[in-house]
Amino acid sequence: MENKTVLILGAKGMLGQELVRVFSENALYAVLGWDREEIDLVDSVASEEKIREVVPSIILNAVAYNAVDLCETSEEEYQQARLLNVHIPESLAKLSEAIGATLIQYSTDYVFDGTNQDGYVEDAETHPLSRYGMTKQEGELTVLATPDRHFVIRLSKLFGKPALSAAGKQSFFEKMLAVAEGKTEVSVVDGERSCFTYAPDLARATRELLEDRSSPGIYHLANSGVATWYEAAQELFRLVRPDVIVRPVSPDAFPRPAERPEYSELLNTKRPLLRDYREALQEFILK
Ligand SMILES: NC(=O)c1ccc[n+]([C@@H]2O[C@H](COP(=O)([O-])OP(=O)(O)OC[C@H]3O[C@@H](n4cnc5c(N)ncnc54)[C@H](OP(=O)(O)O)[C@@H]3O)[C@@H](O)[C@H]2O)c1
Repeated sequence: MENKTVLILGAKGMLGQELVRVFSENALYAVLGWDREEIDLVDSVASEEKIREVVPSIILNAVAYNAVDLCETSEEEYQQARLLNVHIPESLAKLSEAIGATLIQYSTDYVFDGTNQDGYVEDAETHPLSRYGMTKQEGELTVLATPDRHFVIRLSKLFGKPALSAAGKQSFFEKMLAVAEGKTEVSVVDGERSCFTYAPDLARATRELLEDRSSPGIYHLANSGVATWYEAAQELFRLVRPDVIVRPVSPDAFPRPAERPEYSELLNTKRPLLRDYREALQEFILK
């Protein structure tokens, strides 16, 4: 059987690097992992040419603008967010359709307003609170405008190995361990109750989604279990630094420019549930 070419964009990112690893495990796929050095998606003409040359069957777009607060306060940053989260996914969706490829676009719980204590199913109405959330919502719509072909996968609170790129950011758990260095007490915001997502688990769930020939559309693939930042930090320190006392503080203690959803559990009604985030955290931290 001929290999399927899988093109992973944002291949050095927190999620992208795991997608490269997980898809490379199966000899069925010829995996191309591209980041800024290989393709600058902002240059749409050169990008389209380069993508057409490799004729991918599947494009996984793990590139995004993620500076939630910065784009709330700066017009320039907001335009950058629109470019990466709306215009680039739109171009990729059109190009994918033209060359017969399937596009997977990643999105976020920030498309919801977080007022529904029962959580959000895949087709729940979206109502973002921030500019970042609006760009991700619009990006979803542009990708889904090509009917019966593309996928939108929502996740929240991603964690895993830091991104490999120069600007590579660390996840919440590594930041918490750094904050606690030399201390026996830390204060953590007891807010934003939602699901953590372990990058290797999401990468595997993405591959399985495709291999099971799932119908195109929206999927929620976060780990099971809901937690606030404070509750997750408690779990972290229980595992690795039981000497640290974790104190809950109100979100009002750390005001930020962009409003976040208060309760945004992503309910997965279409695919096998991912394991509890605490089990994934244990694997991540103790590995
Ligand atoms: N992180 C979270 O907590 C979270 C939560 C919900 C949803 N998501 C979604 O999950 C997906 C993956 O997020 P992530 O945290 O893994 O992202 P990430 O670590 O920031 O990775 C994105 C990668 O894309 C690269 N990139 C940026 N602009 C580019 C361009 N113009 N051309 C080519 N490459 C470019 C980045 O390089 P540089 O580092 O050099 O910019 C980086 O390597 C995104 O759709 C995001 O919105 C993330």
